[in-house]
Amino acid sequence: MSAPMSLRARNAAANLVYTVLPERGARPLAIPPAGSGLQPVMGDPGLPLLGHTLGALADGLSMARRGYERFGPISWTNVISLKIVSVLGPEGIGTVLANKDKAFVNAEGWETFIGPFFERGVMLMDFEEHHHHRRIMQQAFKRDRLVTYLDMMNPAITRGIDAWQPGSEFLMYPALKQLTLDIATEVFMGSELGPEADQVNRDFINLVFGGNTPIRADVPGGRWHRGLQSRKRMEEFFLRQIPEKRASESDDLFSVLCHAESEDGERFTDRDVVNHMIFTMMAAHDTSTITAAMMCFFLAQHPEWQERVRAESEALGKETIGYDDLDTLTSMDLVFRETLRMNAPVAMLARMAIKDTEILGRYIPKNTLISLGLFSSQRMEPWWHDPDTFDPERFTPERAEDKSHQYAWVPFGGNVHKCIGLHFGGMEVKALLHQLLLRYDLRVDPGYEPLIDMATGPYPADGLPLTLTPRR
Ligand code: HEM
Repeated sequence: MSAPMSLRARNAAANLVYTVLPERGARPLAIPPAGSGLQPVMGDPGLPLLGHTLGALADGLSMARRGYERFGPISWTNVISLKIVSVLGPEGIGTVLANKDKAFVNAEGWETFIGPFFERGVMLMDFEEHHHHRRIMQQAFKRDRLVTYLDMMNPAITRGIDAWQPGSEFLMYPALKQLTLDIATEVFMGSELGPEADQVNRDFINLVFGGNTPIRADVPGGRWHRGLQSRKRMEEFFLRQIPEKRASESDDLFSVLCHAESEDGERFTDRDVVNHMIFTMMAAHDTSTITAAMMCFFLAQHPEWQERVRAESEALGKETIGYDDLDTLTSMDLVFRETLRMNAPVAMLARMAIKDTEILGRYIPKNTLISLGLFSSQRMEPWWHDPDTFDPERFTPERAEDKSHQYAWVPFGGNVHKCIGLHFGGMEVKALLHQLLLRYDLRVDPGYEPLIDMATGPYPADGLPLTLTPRR
């Protein structure tokens, strides 16, 4: 348990330093052009060199709340040597996602954070090029494809859960990470990885963590360096298999991307397929793992909800669910949505302003890096009632708190870049929870709170120790 200990120590130290620092005065990001009628974005630059990195490390949510109290929904600060404008709340997030005057781009925004590790992934493309790639990719996420993916997933889930050793202190997060990787291997590549499994696993972890470092240079031994090496290995791994995948058609995503054709007959090149495979596997993996793990935690913490969700699964009378069963699991869906509200797996979205523009009347000059705070906004009072309380019924048609604004509940983003895998992800997590709840009771020590750290999003860095008791 050395990682959680050091994380606790790091957070405590960062919190201590951060709370004794005096808050510095508000400063404008840039002076708006005369006569524009715009206001400047105000913010606090933080300490010389460090900026507000300590606050972000210690507790990003508290930092966002404090920023909102001082400056409102749009503010700027320095974090990991980057000057960033933070946008909170549905109005501002919606303005940037709608991108009416095409002022914001994904490529330069995301590259700042995830570097070259996911280059040419569809999320890092913009405008016409993005549209072209997304139209081809969409073929792989149509309903009939999803039905087939689910049929491939179910046996992989059963096999994965069969291999678990239940008991107390069962570390749910790494177990689910392994399981979702196994599912991805099956559904995305259509193959057993065999001896390459460990290397592929390591490469994915290196890729995901590659950009998550203040030392953003190719220094041997560093995270950035490891990320680049992993990227190279993954490219070679997928390229090697392309001829075989092109030669015959199968139901896995890799094969589907090799053969996908838009309505106008456009297809992917070999390089495109490799880039999309690497990006999509990354996009699917951590997000689904975090969602499934945090659903397990909330269900363990709220036994009444666990019983309710399980009762619906038992009423189906099936060991595994089919695509049409998904709609009948209404309590599961409420818990899924509330989990994504409380713990948005993609904590923020990155954008870059490519021309002078404005958000909610605040002046944003060209080349401003923007962070849309999905995780924070979904946990803040102005937009959600009692935001730290787990309350899935807020999503019932009677209360419909998520409908208070088009961009109030945005774990999957919105508009042209809205998650292409949202139905895939929902289906995977629900299929997994269905089997899990039929087989096990989940319990957690009263008073336990997971130790949350940030990678692509908030994840339980202590591994999420739960008690798993077989039901039969
Ligand atoms: C609960 C699970 C998931 C969450 C919370 C999630 C969240 C997101 C978010 C917030 C975005 C928008 C990024 C942006 O606007 O910059 C996104 C994009 C994307 N997601 Fe997901 N995702 C999930 C699962 C998946 C799965 C399972 C797949 C694939 C099978 C996937 C593939 C993608 C792709 C390819 C994009 C880029 C779309 C584009 O730019 O056009 N995601 N996801």
